[in-house]
Amino acid sequence: MKSKFEKKTALVTGTAGFIGFYIARKLLSKGWKIIGIDSMSEYYDVLLKRRRESILLQSPNYKSVHAKLEDKDVILDLLSNEKPDLVIHLAAQAGVRYSIENPRIYLESNVSGTFELLEAARAYPPTHLLIASTSSAYGASDKMPYKEIDNSDHQISLYAATKKSIENISHSYSHLFGLPTTIFRFFTVYGPWGRPDMALFKFTKSILQNEKIDVYNYGKMKRDFTYIDDLVESVFRLIDCIPETKNEKNKEFAKFDSISSVAPYRIVNIGNSKPIELMQFIRTIEKFVGKKAKLNMMPLQAGDITATYADNKLLEKLTGYTPKTTVDIGIKKFVDWYRNYYQL
Ligand SMILES: NC(=O)c1ccc[n+]([C@@H]2O[C@H](COP(=O)([O-])OP(=O)(O)OC[C@H]3O[C@@H](n4cnc5c(N)ncnc54)[C@H](O)[C@@H]3O)[C@@H](O)[C@H]2O)c1
Repeated sequence: MKSKFEKKTALVTGTAGFIGFYIARKLLSKGWKIIGIDSMSEYYDVLLKRRRESILLQSPNYKSVHAKLEDKDVILDLLSNEKPDLVIHLAAQAGVRYSIENPRIYLESNVSGTFELLEAARAYPPTHLLIASTSSAYGASDKMPYKEIDNSDHQISLYAATKKSIENISHSYSHLFGLPTTIFRFFTVYGPWGRPDMALFKFTKSILQNEKIDVYNYGKMKRDFTYIDDLVESVFRLIDCIPETKNEKNKEFAKFDSISSVAPYRIVNIGNSKPIELMQFIRTIEKFVGKKAKLNMMPLQAGDITATYADNKLLEKLTGYTPKTTVDIGIKKFVDWYRNYYQL
């Protein structure tokens, strides 16, 4: 069968970031040409971003552009010159807690940035547009596991609200301009080269330095931790699952498919579907670091949700794949990487 991606050229946003780096690396290994765009924002250690990028730049098929998505001329020029047949949008201002401190950047990067990308995609439509959203979009919902077709109207942080807005704006563009669009809702992604603002990185660093770690909601939290390799495999397989406007073919998925009735648009959870208690997570880090953590028990932080749990049926039906790495394996890989990266 002829591939729908004859050019094999992809624009990937956020390629100096944790997930973007891995997705770009996977696509390069499969013979894709990648244009990676990243603003190299200073939200966390820029050296880590440069080091990820330097690995991508070892490939002659990788082209790096440092710009903000909100720079509309840059984005429009890129799409007009390269006409990528695939766009994977991962750049964002992430983080629930920081969105209380600095809300404006979330509207700029996430809402305006995505809007400019959609405008460019409208002018030069790719075969498939894939956009990152988050499990935080489920917000106050306590109906577990989270299903894509369940209500998700009550976000409790600005970060989540900007992500939900992106989902809605993308739906309207998909409907108006026939843009085949897949939204991923990622569930707490972790692994080597991960984000320094996330629990695994912060806990490992503090335990090694004999510093206290902040344990929110007195440890009564559950997260559906998703190992990066599983997430990459899921995203890679979803590239070929190009949504079509709801029709007879979708009938077999009808009970749980989130496909829109009026647009080639679908939302897909990517999570491990096995929530882990925060205290179990901490004990596993202690095991591989070889040291006990000093705990600073804290109340629930504003904007945080106490549990996340992905229903993975749709991902499995579409791709035949479901994430499977246990935290025991994933945390060990992270701690090994951390020691090696910081030469400890
Ligand atoms: N890591 C997770 O657990 C997780 C969970 C749910 C959703 N997500 C989503 O997945 C995507 C990737 O997350 P990540 O963990 O790799 O985050 P990351 O912060 O490591 O990567 C995001 C990258 O985007 C860049 N960026 C930020 N604003 C930009 C802008 N306006 N223009 C261009 N570049 C910009 C940053 O410099 C950064 O390198 C994000 O959309 C995030 O919201 C991540």
